[in-house]
Amino acid sequence: MTGGRTDDSALRHVDNLYYEGPHYDRRYATYTHDIDFWCDLARAHGGPVLELAAGTGRLSLPIARLGLDVVGLDVAPSMIEQALRKRGPSGPPAFQVGDMRSFALGRQFALVVLACSSVCHLLSDEDAVSCFTAVAAHLGPNGVFALDVATPGHETIRADGIHKDRFSYPDPTAEGEVTVRGRRTYDAATRCLTDDMAYTFSADGRTEYVHRTSRMYTVGQLHPLLARAGLRVVQAYGDFDGHQLTDESVTQILLCAHG
Ligand SMILES: C[S@@+](CC[C@H](N)C(=O)[O-])C[C@H]1O[C@@H](n2cnc3c(N)ncnc32)[C@H](O)[C@@H]1O
Repeated sequence: MTGGRTDDSALRHVDNLYYEGPHYDRRYATYTHDIDFWCDLARAHGGPVLELAAGTGRLSLPIARLGLDVVGLDVAPSMIEQALRKRGPSGPPAFQVGDMRSFALGRQFALVVLACSSVCHLLSDEDAVSCFTAVAAHLGPNGVFALDVATPGHETIRADGIHKDRFSYPDPTAEGEVTVRGRRTYDAATRCLTDDMAYTFSADGRTEYVHRTSRMYTVGQLHPLLARAGLRVVQAYGDFDGHQLTDESVTQILLCAHG
């Protein structure tokens, strides 16, 4: 799957990649270590800020609280609905449903953010170039495009193909727990990880299935794709404290500009 653009059947599952917005928030309630980094970056570059794959507003909301104009775009209606519930009746942020592989907002931004390894939802080179080309068109002359992505080895090491308990969290919509069992596999040819997960709800005993595919990217693999969209990496970090990117880094953070 390195060549063609992924067809929309791949997106048929996309609204429940993380089951649903309220569930994403419960599952990632303790995932907060990156928030200060993104807020500091937004403060340094000023608005307007565009967050792609903004999910439930985990980052867009605190960035908007800095007094900046923020737009959050996500393909999954249930994530955007949850973001709007948290925001209240008026913005910022302005949240909207849209596909990061192809969007036209008719304005430019000082900062475009693609956080939390969301670049992994671009399942082919063509999808990535298509997204980065749209980013370049929305980036002001001195604008910065920033993304973070987990280092592939730290993800693929857990792809043992074995069904096991993965995680659990309090059910946001009923009494009881949601327990998730799943199996992770990795296809080196496409660089795609597949998570097949079964969500069981203690409230009524039902089980629902989520199938999520994520493509792995190293910085070296991202460079030529960014270049095809007219973007170049101007800074790289290996963690959210601003340390240098090394072979041992668990996270890859890139800041990119036109050129
Ligand atoms: C890991 S979550 C990150 C959400 C948010 N940025 C955060 O940091 O919490 C990935 C998000 O990417 C969204 N997504 C997946 N494919 C997308 C696409 N083609 N266009 C826009 N959003 C997409 C999912 O719906 C999901 O909300």
